[in-house]
Amino acid sequence: MTNDTRFITTVWRIMDQLKQTTQLEEALSANLDIFCDVTECETGYIWMKSTDDDRIYILATKAPVDQSGVSVRVGQGVIGSVYNGKSSEVVYSTDPRAEGSDDAPLLGSTSLVVPMRTPFGSYGVLQLNDPAGGFSDDDIKLVENCCSLIALDIEDKELEFKPGKDRVPLVSLRGIIKEFLSGEEIRRILKGIDLDVYEGELLVVLGESGCGKSTMLNIIGGMDQATDGQLLIEGKDFSHPSEDELTRFRRDYIGFIFQSYNLMPNLSALENIEFIAEISEHPLESEEMLSMVGLADKSENMPSSMSGGQQQRVCIARAIVKDPKIILADEPTAALDFHTGQEVLKLIESIVREHGTTVIMVTHNIEIAKMADRVIRLKDGLISSIRVNPHPLHAEDLSW
Ligand SMILES: Nc1ncnc2c1ncn2[C@@H]1O[C@H](COP(=O)(O)OP(=O)(O)O)[C@@H](O)[C@H]1O
Ligand SMILES: [Mg+2]
Repeated sequence: MTNDTRFITTVWRIMDQLKQTTQLEEALSANLDIFCDVTECETGYIWMKSTDDDRIYILATKAPVDQSGVSVRVGQGVIGSVYNGKSSEVVYSTDPRAEGSDDAPLLGSTSLVVPMRTPFGSYGVLQLNDPAGGFSDDDIKLVENCCSLIALDIEDKELEFKPGKDRVPLVSLRGIIKEFLSGEEIRRILKGIDLDVYEGELLVVLGESGCGKSTMLNIIGGMDQATDGQLLIEGKDFSHPSEDELTRFRRDYIGFIFQSYNLMPNLSALENIEFIAEISEHPLESEEMLSMVGLADKSENMPSSMSGGQQQRVCIARAIVKDPKIILADEPTAALDFHTGQEVLKLIESIVREHGTTVIMVTHNIEIAKMADRVIRLKDGLISSIRVNPHPLHAEDLSW
């Protein structure tokens, strides 16, 4: 592609994104992807000035760590000073302004930092890190022009940015490493996962088969232990629980939904649920759960006489009957046809939206990610991106 063509194509892509939505978060997240793509940058951030206070917050992230909630004061650090300053610049992690600033850990060895501003106002900052071949003058000009366009659009639409209230994570992973012995060789599957999971959210984890999604889920659910790193539950260190603590945690805190249904074959649908209710601390009504998943008339049925979709619905009822804080769903629709899968997703949606339970759902189906509040991607043992979805779709609007 000639530089002119690249310029025009990129401007067109950015404008197209802006045109498609009046939702700031959505447009800017998509634009961040475009910027990283055309400049071949590994990581990047979009920082936005809050309309409520004097701080600049991370609104979109393309990076392996969860930085939802990171902010700097106007004027502080590299980001704060470019927001206040005159023009874009290429900076290095050794920049003295980064010293002691909240944005310091986010600088790449080479970063391009570009203000999003018009003659009338400054709205935010785009930061791109570690380009494959450095930043050319053309790259810089291109990014600057696009950032001006974005700023004009923000101004034109009078978009406001109000960061979410500080939320307390239910679960935090800090530097989680997991190694497996494979023959003589140690294989590192998770290479340092940092993640916060918030109360009441639907978090979808995407990634190719074998990348470690189930491993991560099992560590969160106390079914497996990390080789290194910290697991925090409501802020308390849970990296080395006793057997007792672990049993209680799994029993009262976590509900699991697997790809395979693994119901007890010799118990009826209702008995499968009651069995779990009996060993739970504060169980809900088993029959009510069965009605909720639409199987009130199947309470006497044995698993073998039920379809895959029905069995999966019993599994969901079984997971929610203990009223857990978190439901972990590992490819819950992978074995189901589209229609049945969608029914299962509708149930999961209602668990989050109506009951307020936190759900972490692993899938390799990108379409399913559209119903999430946040989507994280696992790649090569690390989180490669985290995306906030300001308008999650309803399960019934998905198709694959
Ligand atoms: N208990 C185990 N022992 C050895 N290797 C394992 C074990 N569990 C998972 N692995 C390996 O770790 C990698 C990631 O597995 P997994 O978390 O199941 O991936 P995903 O769920 O993303 O498909 C795979 O290569 C798998 O073979
Ligand atoms: Mg898996």
